[in-house]
Amino acid sequence: MNGKTIKRIAINTGGGDAPGLNAVIRAVVVSALNKGWEVVGIRDGYNGLMKPEDYPEGGLVALSRGKVRGITHLGGTILGTTNKGNPLKYPTPGADGKMYEADRSDELVAAFRRNKIDALVALGGDGSLGIASVLAGKGLRVIGVPKTIDNDLDKTVITFGFDTAVSFATECLDRLHSTAEAHRRVMVVEVMGRYAGWIALNSGISGNADAILIPEIPYDIDKVAAALKERPRRGKHYAIVVVAEGAKPVGGSASVTGHELGRAEKLGGAGERVAKELEPLVGKECRTVVLGHLLRGGCPTTFDRLISLRFGAAAVRALVEGKSGVMVALDPPAVRYVPLKEATNRMKVVPLDCDTVQTARDLGISFGD
Ligand code: F6P
Repeated sequence: MNGKTIKRIAINTGGGDAPGLNAVIRAVVVSALNKGWEVVGIRDGYNGLMKPEDYPEGGLVALSRGKVRGITHLGGTILGTTNKGNPLKYPTPGADGKMYEADRSDELVAAFRRNKIDALVALGGDGSLGIASVLAGKGLRVIGVPKTIDNDLDKTVITFGFDTAVSFATECLDRLHSTAEAHRRVMVVEVMGRYAGWIALNSGISGNADAILIPEIPYDIDKVAAALKERPRRGKHYAIVVVAEGAKPVGGSASVTGHELGRAEKLGGAGERVAKELEPLVGKECRTVVLGHLLRGGCPTTFDRLISLRFGAAAVRALVEGKSGVMVALDPPAVRYVPLKEATNRMKVVPLDCDTVQTARDLGISFGD
């Protein structure tokens, strides 16, 4: 099927939300309507199709120009999202009444066909695009658009949402310097970043942190403390430590707070753990600030808006060209298409030999290693 045979496409947003989702939705909808196609949005990931009975107002939303007017700058997603609705591990009751994870992807592909949807534009991170890749393998025409504030998707230089998250985290660090200095405290700032430390690294350098702890570099708390104790000798009596939520000590593991069927484990407490262990070692009060979901809120930066609009329009062009099973990717200055399988094969973690890590080291920032 090439673009000429497409009549109706769907768009969905899966996993954690990220600033820029609405801008992508608008670009996809307007570009597709301009081709004469009909566009529907699936509510809450795939749930609108998997569990239509949960949506008395309909699991599919008809997306007209009016529906997407004035949404480019809005955070969140007008379609809703979920990180509990993985159709490959869908929480399903077994014969014994207990809940199990079941692969319901065939049912889902059938629902697309039943609803006469010729193609899907899937906005998501590694989890959602992994699902999209499986659906493409089952014959559904799919284009992926890389979303996540964590920036951990491979084969694209950047995902939308990341710039907004880093900009906000940096602003928060700027604000914390004065209060940390006034009280001669150590402020430990926990940011999102489950398996990759991009947010911690980029905001930590830009916001003049003294230590940055990321999942890629297991930390030794004694080394972090030693680095912070150096500061007063240079006339600095406070410190800022940025901790990615997935940071772990040497030989230890990330701070996990819970497991739930059909979703990734919940992380939390990494910052608090570091603060507690640091306090007796540095002899200063250590306080924790968790930026968490604040990083996912607010208006997308100009960079994220533009990249989102470019990604959305490129997704529709891909469909016109008859592509499927690919993800739109930024390869500056161009937007290109890469196989979804390659993009979701492995995570893009911070390379330890990259110049950004080296820059931090050159500036005397400790990684606790
Ligand atoms: O979007 C990715 C992410 O921000 C991770 O860094 C974080 O672990 C996860 O989402 C948390 O999502 P939620 O709290 O919504 O389950």
